Amino acid sequence: MKEIIAKIIQGDCKDVLKTIGVNSIDLIVTSPPYADRREHTYGGIKPEKYVDWFLPISEQLLRVLKPTGTFILNIKEKAENGERHTYVIELILELRRQGWLWTEEFIWHKKNCYPGKWPNRFRDAWERCLQFNKTKKFKMYQEEVMIPVGEWANGRLKNLSETDKIRDNSRSGSGFGKNVSNWINRDKVYPTNVLYFATVCNNKNHSAPFPEELPEWFIKLFTKEYDWVLDPFAGSGTTLKVAKLTHRNSIGIEILPEYVEMTKKSQTEKEFVLFEPKAKYESVKSK
Ligand SMILES: C[S@@+](CC[C@H](N)C(=O)[O-])C[C@H]1O[C@@H](n2cnc3c(N)ncnc32)[C@H](O)[C@@H]1O
Repeated sequence: MKEIIAKIIQGDCKDVLKTIGVNSIDLIVTSPPYADRREHTYGGIKPEKYVDWFLPISEQLLRVLKPTGTFILNIKEKAENGERHTYVIELILELRRQGWLWTEEFIWHKKNCYPGKWPNRFRDAWERCLQFNKTKKFKMYQEEVMIPVGEWANGRLKNLSETDKIRDNSRSGSGFGKNVSNWINRDKVYPTNVLYFATVCNNKNHSAPFPEELPEWFIKLFTKEYDWVLDPFAGSGTTLKVAKLTHRNSIGIEILPEYVEMTKKSQTEKEFVLFEPKAKYESVKSK
């Protein structure tokens, strides 16, 4: 079995990304600091400045991603003065102008979000996981994330209408259609674009870690073993940990030394290679 590499690099990803080889990464999955959030831990970027701050970083992400690769951006706009801020929507438009295709938007439904009461809205139970690609021909392994057919088998699939038994062509003219009867006697179906994961509560020393299932789901969907996964805002290193467990190579970049140490300590020295700030390292070779 080939060795799995996991590299954690300390520094500002805007700079560190420039040291990574062009077209070398299969999947970028990341959660950048949200605007104005976590000021005490790693400083918040003002919502008005968010797009300008992010674009030089995404320019590098576009450079390092393989043409067949995928970029997943976990983000959620804050509410300010009684309104949702528009910086995420503006960011999507600017990323498209930068050359990204906005392929899909997954919703991460936080199953365990805490209760609360606000005068003009309900508690926020979801975040965006935006999918961007460089080309329409990106790699996707849909069978890897199939789910048990569940209640459908006893409900709708047992009472099919006439339209369900024939191909029901999409009204959008996309050329795609559904034939519900195709799914009779199958154990597994494809999931939807709503993902149900619980948030991680106080069991790590980072203020906003991913639940492990989140990077794991995207890693399985968009990569194969020994592919390269990148998290430019690595935090406590969840993406790297999951990449390793699923036999993918990975690179993490994190600005705060204490989080880099945390990532390093969570693995044995043998498993992780720590790169000092500003250290040069060899480009990741495309396979
Ligand atoms: C939302 S957290 C990511 C948490 C991560 N997904 C995890 O599971 O632990 C964002 C991280 O980005 C780091 N960060 C902020 N600005 C950065 C930058 N310019 N370059 C690299 N890391 C940065 C923060 O220190 C923080 O740890």
